[in-house]
Amino acid sequence: MCGIVGFVGYEGDALPFLLEGLKRLEYRGYDSAGIALAQPGRIAVSKAQGKLAVLEQSLQSMPQGIPCGIGHTRWATHGRPTDENAHPHTDCQGVIAVAHNGIIENFQELRDELEASGHQFRSETDTEVIPHLLEVYGGADDLVAAVRQAEKRLKGAYAFLAISAQKPDIIVAVRRSSPLVVGLGEGVNYVASDVSAFLAHTRQAQVLENGDLAVISPGRIQVTDAHGHKRNPKTLTVDWDIRQAERGGYEHFMLKEIMEQPDVWSDCLLSRIHEDKVVVGEMGLTAKLLEGIHRIQVVAAGTAYHAGLVGKALIERLARVPVDVSVASEFRYQEPVLDPGTLVMAISQSGETADTLASMHMAQDEGFPVYSIVNTVGSTLARDSNYVGYTHAGPEIAVASTKAYTTQLLVLTMVALALAENRGRARPDLVRSLLALPKAGQKVLEDLEHIQEMAARLAEHSDVFYIGRGIDYALAMEGQLKIKEIAYIHAEAYAAGEMKHGTLALIEEGTPVVAIVTERAVAEKSISNILEVKARGAEVWAILDNKLGRRVPVDHVLPVPVPDPLLVPVLAALPLQLLAYWTAVTRGQDVDQPRNLAKSVTVE
Ligand code: G6P
Repeated sequence: MCGIVGFVGYEGDALPFLLEGLKRLEYRGYDSAGIALAQPGRIAVSKAQGKLAVLEQSLQSMPQGIPCGIGHTRWATHGRPTDENAHPHTDCQGVIAVAHNGIIENFQELRDELEASGHQFRSETDTEVIPHLLEVYGGADDLVAAVRQAEKRLKGAYAFLAISAQKPDIIVAVRRSSPLVVGLGEGVNYVASDVSAFLAHTRQAQVLENGDLAVISPGRIQVTDAHGHKRNPKTLTVDWDIRQAERGGYEHFMLKEIMEQPDVWSDCLLSRIHEDKVVVGEMGLTAKLLEGIHRIQVVAAGTAYHAGLVGKALIERLARVPVDVSVASEFRYQEPVLDPGTLVMAISQSGETADTLASMHMAQDEGFPVYSIVNTVGSTLARDSNYVGYTHAGPEIAVASTKAYTTQLLVLTMVALALAENRGRARPDLVRSLLALPKAGQKVLEDLEHIQEMAARLAEHSDVFYIGRGIDYALAMEGQLKIKEIAYIHAEAYAAGEMKHGTLALIEEGTPVVAIVTERAVAEKSISNILEVKARGAEVWAILDNKLGRRVPVDHVLPVPVPDPLLVPVLAALPLQLLAYWTAVTRGQDVDQPRNLAKSVTVE
C-alpha cells in the first residue's frame, strides 16, 4: 500500500523529515518513491524507481530549507514501477504537486477529457489526472477551492495531498477511504498515512474521517466533512512505540492483515461490478477470450493453490467449464496434456514464485494463453502473462498469506460469474451479493472475539485434522496449511467422507478435529461425519453455517453467515486464519516470520 507524508512549518526544512517519514513507512511495501517541495513560484520534484536509498542520492540537487513538502512511497497499481510513474505528480505548469494513495476509478475518462483539452500527461498512473484537474479549476491560485471542485469529479477509494507553489504554506489533504492522520507540532504540522511517520516528532494526532478535507497550515488545521461542514476532530495522544504504529497498533502484521480484510475486499471489488454484472475489462479479460475457453488449467503454489481449488468449484458450478488445478512444482515436470481451448490460470501473491513462472512459460511455449491472478503489479508474472487480473490486496508482509488468499477467492468468484454470464448462465443475484461481503466480513470478525480461548485449547495438541466436503474441503486444506506454517502443529486435511476409509483409525479420545460445514447441499452428510469422529472421542472445533444453530453437537462453535454457499469461502477463511493465529500466539511462535519459510520463493 502506498505511503504518504507531508510537512508544513513556519520555518524549517521539510526535506529531512519527509525522507525520515518515508523510511518509517517502508514496511508498507513500495517499488518507487518521491518528494516534492513547494518553493515560492516553483515546485521542486525528485523521484526514483526502487528503494529510498536511490531517491536519497538524487535529493542533493533539491533546494534546502523549504518548509513545505510532500513525499510518497508507491506500490504500483496503475502503471509499472518506473521513475515517471513515481509520485508526486505535477500539473502542466509544474506549480501543483499531488501524492496519492488508492485508486481513481474513472481516471481513463478524465484523462481522455483532459488530454483532449491540451493537458500533457507524463505517466501511466491514475493519479496524474488530479494535478491536471486542479490546474483546470485554478489550483495554482486557490488550491483549496480547486480541490473541492476536483473532488466532485473523482470516483474511487483514495487519499491525496496537494501543494501549490503560489501558496507554499498549506497542504490540502483529502481522505476518501484510504487512511490519513494529521500530527500536531509546534509551528509545524505533519500529515501521513499512519502515525509511525511522525511519531518521533509528535504524539498529538487527529485522525481524518472518510470524506474529510483538511487544510493544514503551520499553526492551524481546518477540517470540513463530506458535506462541506466544519468538523473539529478530537486530538489523540498516541502511546504506541514506532514498531507498534507500523502494525496499526496490532501485535503482528498477520493480525493486522487479517483484520483489514473487509476494507481490502472493497478495494478488490471496486469498479468491477456494474448493474449486477462483472465488468470483464476490469478483470483484465475480454469477452472474446471468455468465449473461446473450453477448459481451464490452474497452476499455483501454497495458499494460491488452495485458492485455485475453491476457484475450480466456483467455475465448474457456475459456468460449467471444466477446471484442473495443479501444484506448479508438479505441473512443470508432468508433461501435461493441454487441449486446444485451454486457458492457463496462474495464481500468485508475489508474482515471483519460480515454479509458477516456469509453468506459465511452459504453457506459453506450447501456444496457450495465460491469465494471471496476481497481487504485485510489475512482478514477472504480471509482466509476462497474456492477461492479468489484480487482487489489489496491498502489500502482504506476514509470511503466512491471508488477505492475498481471500482477494484471490474474490477475483476467482468474479471470473466464474463473468464466464457464467458469457455462457448464458448469468447470476445477477450473486453478483449483487458480492458487494455485501465486506460488511458481512466485518461482522464475522467482531463476533470472533472469543476465538482466543478456543485457540488456547488447540494449542495444547501436536496433531489436528481438518475436514469438510466440496468447497469446505478446499477451505480445510488452507486451514491446515495455516496452522502448520505458523503454529508448527502437524495438520492434515481430509475430505470428510473419506475419513472412514482409513484415517478414522487415528481418532481417539481427545483427538482435535476442525470441521467446516457451509456447503448446504451436503451439510447433513458432513454432520454425520462429525458424529462419527465425536463417537470416537474427538474434540471438535466447527466452522458452521449459522443457520445450523446448536443442532450440531460440537465442542467449539465458530458460526459464519452463509449468504450463498458459493460466496461463503472468504467469510469462512476468517475463523480459520484467526484460529491458526491465536494458536501460534499461545504457543509463543514467531507469527510473522515462521521458521524455514519465505514470503516469496524464487528458487525451485
Ligand atoms: C510461499 C509463501 C506462501 C505462498 C506461496 C506461494 O510458500 O510462504 O504463503 O502461498 O509461497 O506464493 P505466491 O507468491 O506465488 O502466492
